Amino acid sequence: MKPTFYVTTPIFYASGKPQLGNSYTTILADAIARYKRLTGYDVVFQTGMDEHGQKVEQKAEEQGKNPQQFVDEISLEVKNIFEIVNTSYDRFIRTTNPHHKEIVRKIFKKLYDKGDIYKGKYEGLYCTPCESFFTESQLVDGKCPDCGREVHKTSEEAYFLKLSKYEEWLKQYILEHEDFIIPISRRNEMLRFIEQGLDDLCVSRTSFDWGIKVPFDEKHVIYVWLDALTNYITFAGYLENEEEFKKFWPANLHIVGKDILRFHSIYWPIMLKALDLPITKQILAHPFFVDPKGEKMSKSKGNILYADDLSKHLEVDAIRYYLLSELGLSHDGNVSPELIIDRTNTDLANVLGNLVNRTITMAHKYFDGIIYTPTKINEEDEELINLSKNLKNKVEEKMFEYKISEALSEIFEIYRRSNKYIDEQTPWVLAKDPEQEERLKTVIYNLLEAIRTATVFLQAFLPETADKIFKQLNTQNRDIDSVENFDGMDDGIKLNEPEVLFQRIDKEQKLKEIEETL
Ligand code: MSP
Repeated sequence: MKPTFYVTTPIFYASGKPQLGNSYTTILADAIARYKRLTGYDVVFQTGMDEHGQKVEQKAEEQGKNPQQFVDEISLEVKNIFEIVNTSYDRFIRTTNPHHKEIVRKIFKKLYDKGDIYKGKYEGLYCTPCESFFTESQLVDGKCPDCGREVHKTSEEAYFLKLSKYEEWLKQYILEHEDFIIPISRRNEMLRFIEQGLDDLCVSRTSFDWGIKVPFDEKHVIYVWLDALTNYITFAGYLENEEEFKKFWPANLHIVGKDILRFHSIYWPIMLKALDLPITKQILAHPFFVDPKGEKMSKSKGNILYADDLSKHLEVDAIRYYLLSELGLSHDGNVSPELIIDRTNTDLANVLGNLVNRTITMAHKYFDGIIYTPTKINEEDEELINLSKNLKNKVEEKMFEYKISEALSEIFEIYRRSNKYIDEQTPWVLAKDPEQEERLKTVIYNLLEAIRTATVFLQAFLPETADKIFKQLNTQNRDIDSVENFDGMDDGIKLNEPEVLFQRIDKEQKLKEIEETL
């Protein structure tokens, strides 16, 4: 029996097409899901759409559509983008799904019957785009602390979730579980937030219609975050298929951007605790992508990028590589077409593409593409061999802490070292001397096997590129067990013809082409 690994992305607002920053969350989750599958887990990777709320209702109205029609269209667009960026999700969920709505109503009723949700009155300041209430002191310069837009005074009857009841429990939990929220700087932020005291959370609205109705009080719509967060359990069998639910719950990992960590690490664990359910094992909060000037991407600033548009000009794996290698966990990263092009040229064309092309071409030139396993290893081969044999541990060490960019860099270290090995061993010189034939076979084998070993791991990050490399290597040895002994390229196999993996991009020309169409 394989161990299970249930990983989620946030569900995406259906109010518009996701921009590149949104797609990053999904690509990051995809890399983690693929890595876990590669390392032997039974993975469920869930993503989807957050389709209710006032913003969606308004957008639909602006376009003269009914909200359902509107979200149906957006969800197709989102699925299309996820397909383009090669997302290997297992479940794509939508909160307008009748099953989800039914379970959310049951959850609301359950919490109400238990006394953890109660009816009260809300008087405060409301931010419509964020669908959140704030107190005067929470505002920043009189504006919404989350999005910076205007708030307005409202007063309404509403239902509340008793956060205060669970405040102490949550604080203790976070203190006792150091890696519940990663990275640790974000965990500390959340602790500080809790220490200021948690007001009970308003979990219903009456100002609009597009949402799940409170089952026993239909004037009220269930707060969109309660509706959204519960997707992690409503599609995992909760109150429906207990066996399935037990198998995959608690989820192993929620991946979220820093802006929505509070919802995932404070409100959501409290909802689960109130439902007497175990809470998610880990929450990973990533920073943001901003433009090279450090500005947030937005339509109005004209600096917004979309993965589908970019993919018409750049390889999808070049986009994935840039995003995954650029952003760590500690600070925001920059993104622009120019930066993606530069990174593609330096790492993907020069280091990886060049290495694979040179190696396969030499194997064809010197040995008709036939692989010969080495009979004798020299001292000068050892560094490359040991580096390759150690790669599994190094990648695992980085991936254990979700240091994705560092894991990628370990993989590329093998490609870089292999290029250096070519320069050191000068196969073209060996080829001139018939007595060096055995040695040349060994050098080529070592290169091919180093490439293969690194590419086993590359599958998790750049799946299309990895497929292309394996095709050229003509090998089926792609699983994690094949990287132990540096002997995964089988004797006598004939390599396929070399194919260019990444063309060097002419930056000026490409930027002009992109500018004309974006
Ligand atoms: N619908 C909520 C989530 C509900 S989960 C129960 C939501 N949706 S979103 O579409 O606005 O955001 C989806 C993801 O995109 C979030 O993880 C968010 O942090 C991320 N990002 C939005 N802009 C981003 C960047 N500029 N850079 C990186 N990630 C960004 O929030």
